[in-house]
Amino acid sequence: MKELLEKILKEGTVLEEDVLKVDSFLTHQIDPELMSLVGKTFADKYRDKGITKIVTIESSGIAPAVFIGLELGVPVIFARKQKSLTMTTELLTASVYSFTKQTTNNISISTKFLTEHDKVLVVDDFLANGQAALGLIELCQQAGASIEAINIVIEKSFQNGRSLLEEKGYKVDSLARIKSLKNNKVHFVEEEN
Ligand code: G4P
Ligand code: NA
Ligand code: NA
Repeated sequence: MKELLEKILKEGTVLEEDVLKVDSFLTHQIDPELMSLVGKTFADKYRDKGITKIVTIESSGIAPAVFIGLELGVPVIFARKQKSLTMTTELLTASVYSFTKQTTNNISISTKFLTEHDKVLVVDDFLANGQAALGLIELCQQAGASIEAINIVIEKSFQNGRSLLEEKGYKVDSLARIKSLKNNKVHFVEEEN
């Protein structure tokens, strides 16, 4: 997505070789116009796929996910990292290890929002090592829901998330694919065709 790549080049900054800071439009402050375009771009590809739910994880996955859900006219569910006071019904739960933070989080979704009748787009802001996406996939599997694709705003293609997900048979669809962040510069994967 051209507008996203331009935004990353203009406002993204590289921290410690392999981390991209995009807090001016995605992970802290949010650019609604750009997120709306993210929503339209993904929705256009999946309009005829019978998608019934968007599934993401708090917090930074929520903004792009909501715009995709708005475009497709389906609800958006975000997995919670902490159990909420009102989550009194049965839960689907998976554990997610973060390489970046070296911590494990339990993530959960109420069973009442995801069932075997659902066809899901899994959404996240970043794909690094794929652990968050794997956790969301596990929640969908527990519900018996099927997954059409994993939609990622920014993929760090030099980390192993994509190959891990593809090995398991999932389609990964990313709007920006970063080949390297070496020397504090963003290099994108060249588009094929
Ligand atoms: P993984 O899910 O792909 O395995 O990634 P990892 O555990 O390494 O990443 C942990 C967190 O860091 C995730 O967010 C992920 O989205 C985010 N992240 C990974 N790489 C980058 C990066 O280069 N830049 C930025 N800005 N974030 C990155 P989180 O902390 O679990 O959630 P939240 O921030 O959405 O609340
Ligand atoms: Na995230
Ligand atoms: Na984040």
